[in-house]
Amino acid sequence: MNRSTQLFQKEIWAKHYSSNHQILLVGEGDFSFALSLADSFRSGFNIVASSIDSHDDVIQKYKSAETNLNRLGNLGARLLFGVDACTMEFHRDLYLRKFDRIVFNFPHAGFLGKESDDGVILRHGYLVFSFFKNASWMLRPNGEVHVSHKTKFPFDRWNIVELASQSCLTLLECVEFKLEDYPGYNNKRGAGLRPDEPFPLGKCCTFKFISSSTATMLTALYDGIHQELQAILLQGANTSLFTDPARAIKSTKCFRIVVEYFDHARLTYGKNDCYLSSSVTDHLRFKFQRYMAEDHRRQSIDFVKLLEELQSFSKRTIEFLQKRFWELDLRGGL
Ligand SMILES: C[S@@+](CC[C@H](N)C(=O)[O-])C[C@H]1O[C@@H](n2cnc3c(N)ncnc32)[C@H](O)[C@@H]1O
Repeated sequence: MNRSTQLFQKEIWAKHYSSNHQILLVGEGDFSFALSLADSFRSGFNIVASSIDSHDDVIQKYKSAETNLNRLGNLGARLLFGVDACTMEFHRDLYLRKFDRIVFNFPHAGFLGKESDDGVILRHGYLVFSFFKNASWMLRPNGEVHVSHKTKFPFDRWNIVELASQSCLTLLECVEFKLEDYPGYNNKRGAGLRPDEPFPLGKCCTFKFISSSTATMLTALYDGIHQELQAILLQGANTSLFTDPARAIKSTKCFRIVVEYFDHARLTYGKNDCYLSSSVTDHLRFKFQRYMAEDHRRQSIDFVKLLEELQSFSKRTIEFLQKRFWELDLRGGL
């Protein structure tokens, strides 16, 4: 498939990655991860796959590399060599380019001693931190940086969520990494005497990060809605708008998200042992998790759109309630 036919092609998903995403892969081993995505998309035009090694070193290190690189080339992927994750934003082929997904699977600074030694952890941490710093400048507005990483000791001591936050990246979610989600992918040690051998994966996750400014916007929206909902809940549980929100909310998707607040509020309104404020927050968080889990193609921005609808509904409801209370007040009904 060439670039122009790809434009008319249906979107294809491979786990977290879409054929519509511009994807940058960093620190590839034998390029089998890149090939797995390109095979799923039946095209590699949206993929830039890179290694810190030279082309010759990659071919020498990994027995399948030559075939993988040829197949990726035929599928239209861009292949880059000598790309250092710590300085990649200035690489001449990447300078000023922006991506929807920037992915570094199992970053590792090499076999430098016992993995639990503080000095070794520091070296790995420096690699991951520098990668985050570079990647944070290379993201499109709704882009995500993904790092797949082992989560058991001593790898949990790398504190990658903290390292990301120092580069203005905020954890969106952490999803179990399963090799079988990427057919054909062979994880590689990448260094030492046996670079072509796999390393035991054990428990591992894909950590997904978004830029902290996007996260702040999400939180602000979330807080605004939370306050508005609380205001509705506290102002009156028995108005018709409140008891029949389905009529007032246009999309069924949005209704599915909010209905539980109303059910909960109806049941608890006036009971002084119920903590509405925390339960509303919990409902929102729970709803977000469930909404995202229902369909892995969903992005957090889809939930934001529903929240915006909910926010506009909340505003209309408050206006309605205020008007009603004001009328009742005027008639001496309160
Ligand atoms: C454990 S291997 C994982 C390889 C590959 N991502 C995979 O999943 O099979 C770690 C990789 O990190 C790469 N690496 C180490 N330092 C790097 C750097 N500064 N920039 C880019 N890649 C680096 C190594 O070349 C090696 O391929």
